Amino acid sequence: MTQIFYLPDQQLIETEDANTLLTAALEAGIPHTHVCGGNARCSTCRVLILDGHEFCAPRTPEEQILADQLGFEPCVRLACQTMIAREGKITLRRLSLDADDMAMFFDQVSKKAAPSLLGQEKHVAILFADIRGFTAFSEALLPYDVIYVLNRYFQRMAEVINRYGGTINVYMGDGFMALFGVENPDRAAERAIRAGMGMLAALEELNPSLEGLYQQRLRIGIGVHYGWTVIGTIGDPKNPKMTAIGDAVNLASRIEAANKSLGTTFLISKEAYAEAKDHVLVGQSFQVKIPGKSGEYSLYEVKDVPPSKSGEEFGVVTKTQAKHHWFRPIQRLVRALKYWLKRLVGK
Ligand code: FES
Repeated sequence: MTQIFYLPDQQLIETEDANTLLTAALEAGIPHTHVCGGNARCSTCRVLILDGHEFCAPRTPEEQILADQLGFEPCVRLACQTMIAREGKITLRRLSLDADDMAMFFDQVSKKAAPSLLGQEKHVAILFADIRGFTAFSEALLPYDVIYVLNRYFQRMAEVINRYGGTINVYMGDGFMALFGVENPDRAAERAIRAGMGMLAALEELNPSLEGLYQQRLRIGIGVHYGWTVIGTIGDPKNPKMTAIGDAVNLASRIEAANKSLGTTFLISKEAYAEAKDHVLVGQSFQVKIPGKSGEYSLYEVKDVPPSKSGEEFGVVTKTQAKHHWFRPIQRLVRALKYWLKRLVGK
């Protein structure tokens, strides 16, 4: 006999090993939704396996098709298709609890809504950026120009973020949050820091045209932290947005804000620095109190990164890079020469 602990029902049941999870629930009187009658077509019977996945049989081909379509994590299973493989104890949570859940799952299956990413804990690098003094900057401009400047700025920043395998997940007025390591955890902190330096370089390229048009330059502050977050999709089911939530996100935002009081441009946390130590040159370090948190935090000012190896090294090549493939080795050589010259002169 296998034991299944059902949530949110808080009910422990015992069942024969040959049963599916759905059959076991229905036999025990648990109101487990199964709109298509167990034919792997509606997904309303989906469950989240919290413990004991090893006692469940692999996906049937029918379940696999729906799981691929909806982007299910391995721990999300269709109860109507999941056989109990061997004796053990399984803990799971039914995911369709009311009419709203059912409607959302139907919309996903019929492709009227994008599949939502259930919360997953992930170690990621979080980058926050904010334009300094943008309110004063924008007060001198027409509304059209404000939007024009912001769009030019966000476009350039997104190019850099994407080049290093990150994604901008949230825009907040003239600021944004980007995540690195959601899909590919490899060197996430290093990529975020390289992206931060790339953003500053891109801004230097953008500023002359803004000066020409508006006699003003943009300045930004950047903060990077590396830590555990919960990643998931939220918002309107027809247009869900992936985001990160958790203490690490709040801390990254506070680190970016600390640039103002410390008079710096680019700060990273101790955790981000520890991850990318061999690839980043830091200047001053600070012990700061972070609003809303106890104790002091070590922050490091980023001064430089060794010659940027292109996004290709991180498995990321933008369309523009691909077009100018021949040009890249020369760019790298020039960057390397500039870097070493700067270091020699600095010494
Ligand atoms: S009951 Fe419809 S997919 Fe399981």
